[in-house]
Amino acid sequence: MNSKILIVEDDKPQAKILGDYLRHKGFDVSCALNAAEGKKLLEERIFDLAILDWKLPDEDGLSLLKWLKEKQPLTQVIMLTAFATVERAVEAIKGGAYHYLTKPVNLEELIFIIEKALKELRLVREVEKLRAQLKELSPPDVPDIIAESPKMKDTLRLVAKVASTDATVLILGESGTGKEVIANLIHRLSPRQNAPFIKVNCAAIPEGLLESELFGHEKGAFTGADKAKPGLFEMADGGSIFLDEIGDMPLSLQAKLLRVLQEGLIRRIGATKETKVNVRIITATNKDLETLVEEGRFREDLFWRINVFTIRIPPLRERREDILPLTQYFLDKFSQKHQKTLQGFSREALDALLSHHYPGNVRELENLIERAVILTEEGEAITLEGFPLPMKLQNEKKKTDLFYTLPLPEAVSLLEKDRIKQAMEEAQGIKTRAAELLGISERVLRYKLAKYGLAGED
Ligand SMILES: Nc1ncnc2c1ncn2[C@@H]1O[C@H](COP(=O)(O)OP(=O)(O)OP(=O)(O)O)[C@@H](O)[C@H]1O
Ligand SMILES: [Mg+2]
Repeated sequence: MNSKILIVEDDKPQAKILGDYLRHKGFDVSCALNAAEGKKLLEERIFDLAILDWKLPDEDGLSLLKWLKEKQPLTQVIMLTAFATVERAVEAIKGGAYHYLTKPVNLEELIFIIEKALKELRLVREVEKLRAQLKELSPPDVPDIIAESPKMKDTLRLVAKVASTDATVLILGESGTGKEVIANLIHRLSPRQNAPFIKVNCAAIPEGLLESELFGHEKGAFTGADKAKPGLFEMADGGSIFLDEIGDMPLSLQAKLLRVLQEGLIRRIGATKETKVNVRIITATNKDLETLVEEGRFREDLFWRINVFTIRIPPLRERREDILPLTQYFLDKFSQKHQKTLQGFSREALDALLSHHYPGNVRELENLIERAVILTEEGEAITLEGFPLPMKLQNEKKKTDLFYTLPLPEAVSLLEKDRIKQAMEEAQGIKTRAAELLGISERVLRYKLAKYGLAGED
């Protein structure tokens, strides 16, 4: 497609010379004789380049330049002037012009500058396009990981970046935020994806067994070691090992882990020689490692070794955009698992889900939905009844929270109305009795019933 050029020039013969010349050179040229006409054309289409005369009958070219740059910031502008001064040139460039030429225009110079300006424009557009594509594409699209919130998208971008390296990764996040999910993803996106991925929960294995689990043992290393056994590090050779709950690793083992990280060497229990292993290490914890270091429960040198690249997974309450897609994802997942077709959620149920605090993060939401799917009858919608008591109470609390935002007169009225309604119910509509319960006269009660629109049942 031919590049579009706009000429705004009030000197008709000059405009014609320029126009004819540029058309002859294959450009798609439009001409305007004043700023107003120029603006009209600029409202209608996007130009690649504009040639503006400095002095126009209705507006000076400089203010037209500013207007244009706001409308079409990428459009390249060449300013023309009869009197060249340094000040003018500076003003034009400052205003966003690409170049500045004096009249009479040297057509060869003009075409040279136009070509250059258009080439730059193409590059700028290319970069903008790539940047937009990159932004769209770069969080890896993984079907079983929900990441709609900007925070999670950023996290996934980071994951994609670090996955391709061999860097040791430390994953931090509250319980249930998805640390294991992310550890898995790092391995799946890494060049080691076809080699083993070994998970070790450092908190779950008794201290006495952890060393032999991790590093293996030789035959006869201890009573009961009737066969030599390779450790998990050896089994993960060429792949990745995920040391979950690293904060719970006993101090005695931390030194040995440091050796693996520094030298890639492990020693089986009872062995005289060390063995080389090639393992990428991913660790995770929901503990505050810095505090553990201060308390002397975690080696500082190990802390620095594992803390090379840290990924922090935000708690669910800080990325609320993920709640709805996760809810849908889990509903589908558990409807399938329990072979049920449900009608989604009632409004209250959805409200409760969306406003919950999720101290247990994604795992809590996942468990909530599975429980609700089990409790809800085939073909029905999930209601508040499907949720555990704290969620229902939460819903009540929400009303209370709202109460605490009201101005005093409204808060008092609300409370008064509620109490009167309740007393009337208790008194089964008999006003004398309700007035007694409330400790007010029947006359005052009648007045208040009318005021709150509760007198209808009379
Ligand atoms: N982004 C996500 N998309 C889909 N499912 C997720 C996501 N994040 C977490 N989950 C699910 O939530 C549950 C908890 O995730 P995971 O076990 O990875 O959390 P964790 O941070 O390791 O928790 P903990 O600290 O308790 O070990 C898992 O069942 C996991 O599949
Ligand atoms: Mg975990």
